[in-house]
Amino acid sequence: MKIILCGFGVVGQSLVKLFDSRSEDLYAKYGLKPRVVGVFDSKGSAVDSTGLEFIKLVDVKKKFGTVKNYASTKNTMSGIDMLKNLEADVLIETTPSNYKDAEPGMTHITTAMKKGLHVISVNKGPLALAFPSLMELATYNQVMLKFSGTVGGGTPILDYAKNSLNGERITSFSGILNGTTNYILSNMTTGLSFDEALKDAKDRGYVEADESLDLDGLDAAAKLVILANWIMGMKVTMPDINCTGIRKVTTEDIKKAAKNNCAIKLIASCNKELVVEPKEVPKNDPLCVNGTLNAIAFTSEHSGTQTIIGKGAGGMETASSILRDLLDIRQEIAKN
Ligand code: HSE
Repeated sequence: MKIILCGFGVVGQSLVKLFDSRSEDLYAKYGLKPRVVGVFDSKGSAVDSTGLEFIKLVDVKKKFGTVKNYASTKNTMSGIDMLKNLEADVLIETTPSNYKDAEPGMTHITTAMKKGLHVISVNKGPLALAFPSLMELATYNQVMLKFSGTVGGGTPILDYAKNSLNGERITSFSGILNGTTNYILSNMTTGLSFDEALKDAKDRGYVEADESLDLDGLDAAAKLVILANWIMGMKVTMPDINCTGIRKVTTEDIKKAAKNNCAIKLIASCNKELVVEPKEVPKNDPLCVNGTLNAIAFTSEHSGTQTIIGKGAGGMETASSILRDLLDIRQEIAKN
């Protein structure tokens, strides 16, 4: 399988390390031989149609801050040129999520699909702003668009709701979809102020470069858009979410909740309306997880409510979700 990888940050580097450590097993068990024929980051690109060396890519990135120094004769192909001209089967899009215009991810994804490449995106921006039209574009071009890693990182939340509840009708769901705000709110229960808890989360590297994505609920809202489209068949985008972040949550609010045996959590819910807001959750509710954990409870017509809990972020965890998508694509191609 020939892959173009765009973005080579923590997730991209984890992915090639995963390919490297699992190469024998992936081939023996699944017949999958991932060949990364092109990689581009914000400063340049590396190309080899026979497959780039995984660990060399990581070493070059570490040393030079870009993959463009991979070969002694620097490759000058731009990312878009690569998508238009390099022979490949799959684009893996890992550039940062942007909820203003979804670029550069949107152009990468649409260019790749028009060229007939299947796409795996862990970038939430394009899906949050244009889920319905991207699915239409995928169908029109007869390619697969996969995005397991956009919700729950390595925890297979989307797959569970879509495939394990086959035949059921999910009537509502609600959950903690942002690990950073959960970490901040959990720490505030120990008496830290919002600013102190935020500083601690920043020191640990949990907070997005643009802190507003976490604190104002945009990241949780983007995940809610993806769930609502994929699981509930709604055709919605970011403006359809009624979104409030956690900046106004005070230590007093947390203490008041504790008196009711509750904790305040940033809850994304789909129950008639699509809402992201801080809410009191009973401490004995399975949804009431602490630290950076994510949790989501799906309620179905006949099978009751089930809660899935897991890590919602992390380079290797997200890389493992990309691998799941890649294996799905491999299997679909083999079927046809
Ligand atoms: N900022 C996100 C979080 C990262 O804290 O959950 C994963 O999407």
